[in-house]
Amino acid sequence: MNINIFENADEVAVAAGNVFAEQLKVKPNSVFSFATGSTPVKMYDYLAQLNRKNEISFKDVTTFNLDEYVGIESDDVNSYYYFMHKNLFDKIDINCENTHILNGKAEDPEKECEDYERLIEQSGGIDIQLLGVGVNGHIGFNEPSNIFADKTFVVKLTESTIEVNSAYFPNNDIPLSAFTMGIGSIMRAKKIVFIATGKTKAHAVKEMAKGDISPKNPASILRFHQNAYIFLDKEAAALL
Ligand code: PGA
Repeated sequence: MNINIFENADEVAVAAGNVFAEQLKVKPNSVFSFATGSTPVKMYDYLAQLNRKNEISFKDVTTFNLDEYVGIESDDVNSYYYFMHKNLFDKIDINCENTHILNGKAEDPEKECEDYERLIEQSGGIDIQLLGVGVNGHIGFNEPSNIFADKTFVVKLTESTIEVNSAYFPNNDIPLSAFTMGIGSIMRAKKIVFIATGKTKAHAVKEMAKGDISPKNPASILRFHQNAYIFLDKEAAALL
């Protein structure tokens, strides 16, 4: 695993964003899998800025998002669909028909997962998978558990994640489950870009890089990826 430590979150955003920018120069029709949460927002801003300056284009890019809450409408301000449009897709020249996000309101969740995996396969596979990490070590919504899930599935969120998410759901209507790409879906990406910033992530980062490789510590599996690039600020790297 290739670990890079920067002074602050702005530098992390530029360094991680440049991996996507370089990839687009080599393969304009790249397939990216994107993540949500507060961590990638600065990187999305940076990519939108490069797009505005015509340094990169997303017009032939296909995207898949890592996860989505079960039971949420796409136009809900807390949906990841809404997040991606607000923070990135509305600001770049991407063709929205090529952006894929799991449907939180899918009538048949099992079919939704199978269809998603099929679409990823049909796209030729993910060139770059973006990841943040939860304070409990989750990647996507692969929560600490007894097994590494292979493919996209519906997961029951842990108390820790529900607590972190409660800040975004003031009415207490916090989703208790979510769709997520599996650990296998993530590990099949040709390249991983992992970003973590701030001191709340220091423990999860240490466990990822130095803890047991175990489904109880989901991010630890990234140590088996041949092409994983880790971008941290000083605070997130403080326990390494
Ligand atoms: P955050 O979430 O970027 O909002 O901290 C990351 C995650 O839970 O994967």
